[in-house]
Amino acid sequence: MLSYQHAYHAGNLADLHKHAILAAALAYLTRKDKPLTYLETHAGRGLYHLDSPEAVRTGEAQAGISRAEAEGWLPADHPLLQALHGIRAKHGETAYPGSPLIAAHFLRRSDRAHLAELHPAEHTALTSVADFATIHHQDGFRMAQAICPPTPRRGILLIDPSYEVKADYTALPRFIGQIARKWNVGVIALWYPLLTDSRHRDMTGALRNAYPDALISEVGFPPARPGHSMIGSGIFVLNPPWGLAEEASRLERIFRTIR
Ligand SMILES: C[S@@+](CC[C@H](N)C(=O)[O-])C[C@H]1O[C@@H](n2cnc3c(N)ncnc32)[C@H](O)[C@@H]1O
Repeated sequence: MLSYQHAYHAGNLADLHKHAILAAALAYLTRKDKPLTYLETHAGRGLYHLDSPEAVRTGEAQAGISRAEAEGWLPADHPLLQALHGIRAKHGETAYPGSPLIAAHFLRRSDRAHLAELHPAEHTALTSVADFATIHHQDGFRMAQAICPPTPRRGILLIDPSYEVKADYTALPRFIGQIARKWNVGVIALWYPLLTDSRHRDMTGALRNAYPDALISEVGFPPARPGHSMIGSGIFVLNPPWGLAEEASRLERIFRTIR
């Protein structure tokens, strides 16, 4: 039973944090003239429109990417803004790229991509915008288990669950351990929400213990709506590309100024 739909949340403060880190990592990894694999376990529909009824209903993008652009939070040449402008040129001014289309902006012909999306409607929508990738209508964890280590071996895996299944928090450190053992050169990125009840803390504690050199970036922000339990965004990156820690620090400084 999948009820989460990212269209309500696309371009919010959590996306801003996650997508800025993802775009910076991809910009760096595609600078080198060697092919790579982009993998994503929870891809979503790939393309969003910020004037859609879903986005308008929550107003989350207004407080996220729209405010970030209006107030110049990111430098004009930031990789996320490059991807955003590329998507707008193709799909119109209200378009906002999900992670698969951010990846598409940076990937070259020699690169490979595999995206998993389980929700039937999200999967169908993804299929219509992501012809650069092999799209799997299956559980993303299973897809990653089957493909890793991928060919080409260089690459990045984004794990961006909707955390509808509460067991995800305990299963994720084990899953990352299995993938990292099979694919020790892979960049493995996991997004997670910072919650009022600190449910994520055991998971991040286990990841910190297992991978003391990994990058963990966390930013706090005001809850999207009264009673909303997400009060921030976190991302764990194993084998972070060079420069990503500095990018994460820059973003953390920006988020500290949000009122
Ligand atoms: C947070 S959204 C993804 C957003 C996307 N990564 C982005 O940043 O644009 C999570 C997605 O995972 C899908 N999903 C949930 N469980 C899944 C699973 N086990 N395997 C694959 N997809 C799943 C949901 O339908 C939803 O579209």
